[in-house]
Amino acid sequence: MAVVLSFDNVCKEYLRGNVPFFAVDHVNLTIEAGDFVNIIGRSGSGKSTLLNMAAGMLSPSGGSVCLEGEDLSARDDASLSRLRNDKIGFVPQGASALPDLTVLENVVLPFCLWPHGGDGEGAGRILLERFGIAHLADSYPAELSGGELRRALIARALINHPRIVIADEPTSDLDVESSMSIMETFTKLNSEGVTLLLVSHDLDTLKYGKHVYTMSEGKLEEGDHLTA
Ligand SMILES: Nc1ncnc2c1ncn2[C@@H]1O[C@H](COP(=O)(O)OP(=O)(O)OP(=O)(O)O)[C@@H](O)[C@H]1O
Ligand SMILES: [Mg+2]
Repeated sequence: MAVVLSFDNVCKEYLRGNVPFFAVDHVNLTIEAGDFVNIIGRSGSGKSTLLNMAAGMLSPSGGSVCLEGEDLSARDDASLSRLRNDKIGFVPQGASALPDLTVLENVVLPFCLWPHGGDGEGAGRILLERFGIAHLADSYPAELSGGELRRALIARALINHPRIVIADEPTSDLDVESSMSIMETFTKLNSEGVTLLLVSHDLDTLKYGKHVYTMSEGKLEEGDHLTA
């Protein structure tokens, strides 16, 4: 299978007080087309830092992150933004919808940022329909439940047919039923060929995904080492 995303000895070093520490500590990981990688880890273990580097929003202190074999750090900011817009569907941690845009406008926004051929609004409506929130197209993010909003953000991540969808804590702040529904949505997308990288501290997500890794103090290990 073709490699979509790879981390080669990736580190991110920060200072706490004056003391340097690795928020991400020499991580190696290869994600192939069609994979569903689920990383679990406690709060502060480095999950968001790792995902932000995967999405090209943060530069590593060492090592390299490659998307389809291309080192993200070789790109300037403008071309990196374009690459991210076209090839990476990112669902950030927390509320990340623009409050003054409707749900449909939020979903279609990545399509509108750069010229793309086709009917963005139509594609957005199809995604909303698919996720059971078509009736909320003209509502504003503040009017949606947590689960509905999360589905809208997943729809937004899919609008440009990315090579990979990266989601940071997609089930946080949701009740068990909504969390399961979100994880089943990801499982269905993956069965249709969407490549996925998710991180979570929610152990209920463990049964989902084809490959589970544990992040602990910046280090990534294969398997579940939190409940084991
Ligand atoms: N800009 C920064 N400067 C210094 N330290 C940082 C910075 N960003 C994150 N950290 C630290 O790096 C570590 C990893 O943070 P990160 O946000 O990646 O954790 P996380 O696993 O996503 O946690 P959570 O589950 O709470 O979202 C934490 O100890 C955090 O305090
Ligand atoms: Mg985080």
